[in-house]
Amino acid sequence: MLTRKLSNGVLMPVLGLGTFKVGEGNEAYDTVLEALKLGYRHIDTAQLYGNEASVGKAIKDSGLKREDIFITTKLASSKLGYQEAIDELNISLEKLGTNYVDLYLIHWPSPSDELNQQTWKGMEVCYEQKLARAIGVSNFKIHHMDAILKIAKITPMADQVELHPGLYQLPLQNYLNKLGIALISYGPFMKGEIFDQNGPYYQTLNQIATKHQASVAQVVVAWGLERNIFMIPKSVTPKRIKENFDSLNVKLDSEDVLAINNLNRGKRVYTDPDNNSFVKQA
Ligand SMILES: NC(=O)c1ccc[n+]([C@@H]2O[C@H](COP(=O)([O-])OP(=O)(O)OC[C@H]3O[C@@H](n4cnc5c(N)ncnc54)[C@H](OP(=O)(O)O)[C@@H]3O)[C@@H](O)[C@H]2O)c1
Repeated sequence: MLTRKLSNGVLMPVLGLGTFKVGEGNEAYDTVLEALKLGYRHIDTAQLYGNEASVGKAIKDSGLKREDIFITTKLASSKLGYQEAIDELNISLEKLGTNYVDLYLIHWPSPSDELNQQTWKGMEVCYEQKLARAIGVSNFKIHHMDAILKIAKITPMADQVELHPGLYQLPLQNYLNKLGIALISYGPFMKGEIFDQNGPYYQTLNQIATKHQASVAQVVVAWGLERNIFMIPKSVTPKRIKENFDSLNVKLDSEDVLAINNLNRGKRVYTDPDNNSFVKQA
């Protein structure tokens, strides 16, 4: 599996399986097992998804070595805080049936910089105690990142954000590149909007797909990979899990990347991180 190094040298597979809305129990178990059989070695979960136990069981039953699989989990947005970051990771580890995760992220920023800073200090403890091989954040905009960098002993190693043809996140990527922070895309298929033949994205994506004998989904994943973005498409459908994995074989030209970049319209299909009312406020 193709990997790239995080700033601390830890290797992260460039393509992973997303598991948001993959139900705890058979659905998560079967989906993760199927993905691992197909060659995926990176699974993205979160406390909020409620499926860590089944994800962990599938990993265990896959027969693969723990060190050959990259597991990401995330601290729930209602549980921000110094001690919470540590305690909650221990709960996740218990559910996942492992004694470390490969990447631990703050799922959403609080509007309170101070709370994000305290939480980050807890994340650093998790890293120092080797409960997480790498630590980072999710849904952090530049201003959130600036605030935690004021107190960080350890610069976050990754930021996972909504990123797709409608929201290319180039300014954020340029900012993160300067700091050596990896960018991970979520929601690459825009909740299905990229497949809408009457929508603003399909025609360009389909032209590029035809040129490369690929699917529209594969073109979007390949576009992210070409931009050095880590991609974690979600599917519970075996045919699509394979199709998405095979994006690794699709190589876009620079003009394809540019054409997809030009589809950007600052469109979010998920909540704006500055307006998430479910997040602990202070
Ligand atoms: N950090 C965060 O706040 C955050 C937020 C959202 C998501 N995420 C992470 O990012 C992952 C991916 O994002 P996402 O789940 O929002 O959505 P996504 O990967 O953009 O899209 C998933 C949807 O597309 C369908 N699909 C998958 N592959 C397809 C294909 N090849 N052709 C056609 N349809 C396809 C899936 O259907 P089926 O499953 O029915 O096949 C599902 O409905 C999540 O699972 C999660 O791990 C993180």
